[in-house]
Parts: sequence; C-alpha cells; structure tokens
Amino acid sequence: MLVIEQETAALREEFIAVLGHDLRNPLASIDAGAKILLKTPLTDQATAVVQLMQKSVVRISAMINDVLDFARGRLGAGIGVTLSAADTSLMETLHQVIAELRTSAPSRAIEADIVLTEAINCDAGRLGQLLSNLLGNALTHGADNSPVRVRAATEGGMFTLSVANIGETITPAALKQMFQPFFRGGVRPSQQGLGLGLYIVSEIARAHGGAMTAVSEAHETRFTFRMPLQKS
Ligand SMILES: Nc1ncnc2c1ncn2[C@@H]1O[C@H](COP(=O)(O)OP(=O)(O)OP(=O)(O)O)[C@@H](O)[C@H]1O
Ligand SMILES: [Mg+2]
Repeated sequence: MLVIEQETAALREEFIAVLGHDLRNPLASIDAGAKILLKTPLTDQATAVVQLMQKSVVRISAMINDVLDFARGRLGAGIGVTLSAADTSLMETLHQVIAELRTSAPSRAIEADIVLTEAINCDAGRLGQLLSNLLGNALTHGADNSPVRVRAATEGGMFTLSVANIGETITPAALKQMFQPFFRGGVRPSQQGLGLGLYIVSEIARAHGGAMTAVSEAHETRFTFRMPLQKS
C-alpha cells in the first residue's frame, strides 16, 4: 500500500513538473521565435499568421497555468497563497486586470467601482487571477452587447468583489455544479476552455478564508467573492 502511495506521489510531482517546466520552455521558445520573425520583413499574410501563433501561445500558457493550479489544488496541498496586508497593491492589481480585459475585448463596456478603504490580508496576485477568471467568464458567457460591472469594496469587516453581467439565466442545476473542475455549461464549440476557471476561483476564495456565491436571474448573473478582511 505504501509503495503505491509513494508511486502516486512521485507521479503527481512529475506531472506538475512536466506541466510547469517542460511545456513552458518550448512554448517560450516559440514565442521568442515569433517575436524575431515579426522584426524581419514579412508579407501581410505571414505577419497575420505569426500574430495568430502568438495569440495561441498566450492561450496555451493560460491553459497550462490553469491545469497546474488544478493539479496543485486537487492533487497537492491546495492552491498556494501568500497573504499580506498590502491593500494598495490589490487596488492596482484589480485595475490592471480590468485594463487587460478591456484590451482583449475592446468592443465591450466594463464598468468598475473599486473602493478599498481598509487593509485586506490577501494575495493580490491570486485575487487578480480570481477577478480575471470572473471577468473573462462574464465577457465570454454573458450577452455580447451588454456592459459588465465589477464592484469591489471593504465594508463591515469584509472584502467583497463581484462581477455582474446580463445574459441567459443559468439553470439551478448548472449553478450547483459550476465550481466543480471541468464543468462546462451550454457553451458553443467556438468557446474554448477547460472548465477549470471557476474551480480555481473557488480554491483561491477558500485559501483566503472566503467563499464564492453565484446568483442568476433574468436581469443579471452575478458572481460574488467575500472574505473577512483578516483571515482568522
Ligand atoms: N457569467 C457567466 N454567465 C453564464 N454562464 C457562465 C458564467 N460564468 C461561467 N458560466 C458557465 O460556467 C461554466 C464553467 O465556467 P469556468 O470558468 O469554470 O469554465 P470555462 O469558462 O468554460 O473554461 P475556462 O477553463 O477557460 O475558464 C462555463 O462553461 C459556463 O457554462
Ligand atoms: Mg472561465
């Protein structure tokens, strides 16, 4: 029995190592190659192809990171967070994530209302990742032509971060399963994704001593993260 457990542990470590290192390095080399190509004279068509390759690299990197987080969260000791009370960096991180998603979806309106008046004991990078997933979902799975609203606040000893969009109502059955790994709802085949985003979101929430809730009604779908300002 012990031998099997040791073998499983070794396999798990190897799996994480392969994902983290062995896949990322060749990907970085493709990215570097694409950058070099773009500096040389190319036809318009070739430029478009290289740019498409770069976008694929970004997409694959994101998937590797998600699978890596999944592996750590599910198979290892949980998603790692380093908590510190640097509230200004959280504010900057949240604004940066919103700016990134505005760039990737220029036609969409993202309204932000971020008012943080108290220190929050958190991992700003991980909360940025949480917001990025929720915002990405709102843009991908919500109605194309409607604005997405992000609200972050410190109130009553809690930090709250919510993302709301208009779109088709999520069924109660789907709402229940949504935070499970690899769950995907009625998505179109063109919507790529592994179904890991919300699982990672819920793991990040848990690691902060917080929790996620989701409400979907005819006029709005809203995902909310809440955590105590100081994890006890
Ligand atoms: N804002 C939303 N409105 C409607 N449905 C949503 C929303 N957010 C998530 N969903 C549903 O929940 C499912 C799971 O979301 P999750 O983020 O975990 O995976 P994904 O977006 O499909 O893929 P990825 O791994 O790239 O995030 C989605 O496939 C979608 O059906
Ligand atoms: Mg997602």
